[in-house]
Amino acid sequence: MNFPVGIVGVGKCVPNTIVTNQDLVAGGLDTTDEWIVSRTGIRERRIADAETRTSHLAYGASQEAIKDAGIQPTDIDMVIVATSTPDYALFPSTACLLQDRLGLRTDIGAVDVSAACTGFNYALSMAEQYVATGACRYVLVVAGDVLSRHVDWTDRSICILFGDGAGACVVGRVPDGFGLIDSKLYSDGSYADILQVKPDGPSHIYMDGRAVFKVAVNAVVPAVEAILKKNGLVGSDVDLLVMHQANLRIIEATRERLGIPEDHVMKMIEIYGNTSAASIPMALCDAKQGGRLKRGSVVLLAGFGAGFTWGTTLLRWAY
Ligand code: UT7
Repeated sequence: MNFPVGIVGVGKCVPNTIVTNQDLVAGGLDTTDEWIVSRTGIRERRIADAETRTSHLAYGASQEAIKDAGIQPTDIDMVIVATSTPDYALFPSTACLLQDRLGLRTDIGAVDVSAACTGFNYALSMAEQYVATGACRYVLVVAGDVLSRHVDWTDRSICILFGDGAGACVVGRVPDGFGLIDSKLYSDGSYADILQVKPDGPSHIYMDGRAVFKVAVNAVVPAVEAILKKNGLVGSDVDLLVMHQANLRIIEATRERLGIPEDHVMKMIEIYGNTSAASIPMALCDAKQGGRLKRGSVVLLAGFGAGFTWGTTLLRWAY
């Protein structure tokens, strides 16, 4: 069995609290709006309150995605949650909490995936296998993080970057000629030390920003070129490039190298900052709701993050 597989519903959920660059300056952080905007493209981010956990954001995003797909929660045959900030450090998984809160059936698998900011690409490619083989009809793929809990709010090189949020999609069968065309995952653990939360001491993100920037561009650009070439496409064939939103300069560098027109690129970093694994599905949701995705649109997803992990997904939008 090899059914065509695609995204058939999208949703997102972000906390209500907006923290602008000005708010950070007013709070005493030694930075400026000008520095943050020119180096990263970020103007504001959403920050979760003390009670909000990843599963709460994942729940909101999932409800929206299930509604968008026009199905019932009980139609879901598996749930995969990509997160680096699960509600519980060890267990139960955030996916299990979501299974219960959404009222999903109990005869389905629920599992968390850990691939940092590339988590959505990893989870999507796993979901694809279950639907393609016919083992599942619908898989709920959710990516969510509350990384604001893991930044040192006095470290200006890190705390300005991250925001909280979740994005979700329902993966299901689509008509022939639509849906996922190709996907490729990558990993290189030799770069584990340039972006990590150290196993001992405070649970804060450590990042060698310049090194990550370089590794990201050197990894993502060839990966995007490779998936296009393998499928007989060029940059100008891409209707929408949805990259992990970590730095506007990385998005721009990739877009330019590939010759993708400027208005064919999703840029959400300005209002959400870096929401880790959630950034790609959140951007997909905003693209769909903003009318930027039509049936047949060629969409390229490119994720990258700690590990180092990266991945590309090429699809023809199905609805
Ligand atoms: O999602 C995971 C993937 N993550 C990424 O892809 C992030 C990749 N890296 C980056 O986006 C960039 O490296 C950053 C935005 C994190 C930093 O930008 P940069 O242009 O690489 O700056 P830098 O770290 O080289 O720092 C330049 C200067 C330093 O001062 P000196 O040493 O030149 O005097 C920093 O202390 O900027 C200073 N600086 C700041 N100044 C004002 C660092 N953070 C700030 C700040 N405000 N918030």
